[in-house]
Amino acid sequence: MIICYLRAMLNIDPDNYVSAKIFKQDIKEIFLGTWQLLCPVSRLAKRGDYYAAEISGQKVFAIQTSGGIRAFKNVCRHRGARLLPEGCGRSSTIRCPYHQWVWGENGELLNVPWWGNDPGFDGKKLSLDKISYEIWRGLLFVSIEPSTTLSEQLAGVVPELEGEDIDSYHWVYEEKLTFDSNWKIYTDNFVEGYHIPGIHPSFYNAIEFDKFETLALDGYVRMTAPPRKGLFYRGKWLWMWPNWTLSLFEGGMNTSRINPISHKTTELIYNFFFADSSKFNKDARNKIIKENLDVIREDFEVCIETHKNYESGGYRAGPLSPRHEQGVAYFQKRLIDSRVKSEV
Ligand code: FES
Ligand SMILES: [Fe+2]
Repeated sequence: MIICYLRAMLNIDPDNYVSAKIFKQDIKEIFLGTWQLLCPVSRLAKRGDYYAAEISGQKVFAIQTSGGIRAFKNVCRHRGARLLPEGCGRSSTIRCPYHQWVWGENGELLNVPWWGNDPGFDGKKLSLDKISYEIWRGLLFVSIEPSTTLSEQLAGVVPELEGEDIDSYHWVYEEKLTFDSNWKIYTDNFVEGYHIPGIHPSFYNAIEFDKFETLALDGYVRMTAPPRKGLFYRGKWLWMWPNWTLSLFEGGMNTSRINPISHKTTELIYNFFFADSSKFNKDARNKIIKENLDVIREDFEVCIETHKNYESGGYRAGPLSPRHEQGVAYFQKRLIDSRVKSEV
């Protein structure tokens, strides 16, 4: 389904981006109920392998167990400490660093040291809080309070990537990048190629910009442009509702999750995958990763300065280009729709 916006489109009110109150609504109405890309499932290969992360401030982890993957809130049931440090690790049990309570891999409370005599204490009621997980094409998604299935959320991107061999790519590298701008200002930036001539001059020279095409589709935005010789990208960039991306390059891909840290700070979690993960190809891979990250960083300044202008009250909503900013209009429509849905 192609969603066309041929009539005049306006950017939404800047308050949607800079208000701390609306940020709290975003967490409740968007982040808690949707599926969030956590990590490549290959990072949980052996029993005890875990990956811990934050989803808009909510701490979660997934762990490989004897009974398959399980996912929990990364929150102690005693007084709320973080259980596992963020990132990847391995552990057969989950021990809280604060007062040393211990849970098994299935989330059951196993040990409460030095507690003292307390006949009313019922450890069975203090299992870790489970969250949902699903795997799609080698990618592990979690959801704290899912309001749809993962396939409903992925929608049109499932057939879009059917012919791509993304499951066979090996995960190679993760990089986190943080900058001071609202997550939606960055998303607006990602879903349009209109800024490429101004912000990414080398990238501009490496594609046929006149043929740059942006389509708002079912649950995702597809941007394409024929690459010129020497570009590492394959000329196809995808953004999926509400906050993850997938870009293809020769012999691999990257994914990212756009994670809000606060209403004015955003973290990008980038993962790079390659068909050839052999040591012989290491230099070529590192070059692609570096060039990729350089392009990504070029967007930060414009997002930071736009955020400041929105925050100052000095900006009034302006028009969106029907040719280049269909993706922006689509993302903004989904934002407004999710707000209306939660108000019903
Ligand atoms: S807060 Fe975790 S054991 Fe006390
Ligand atoms: Fe950009």
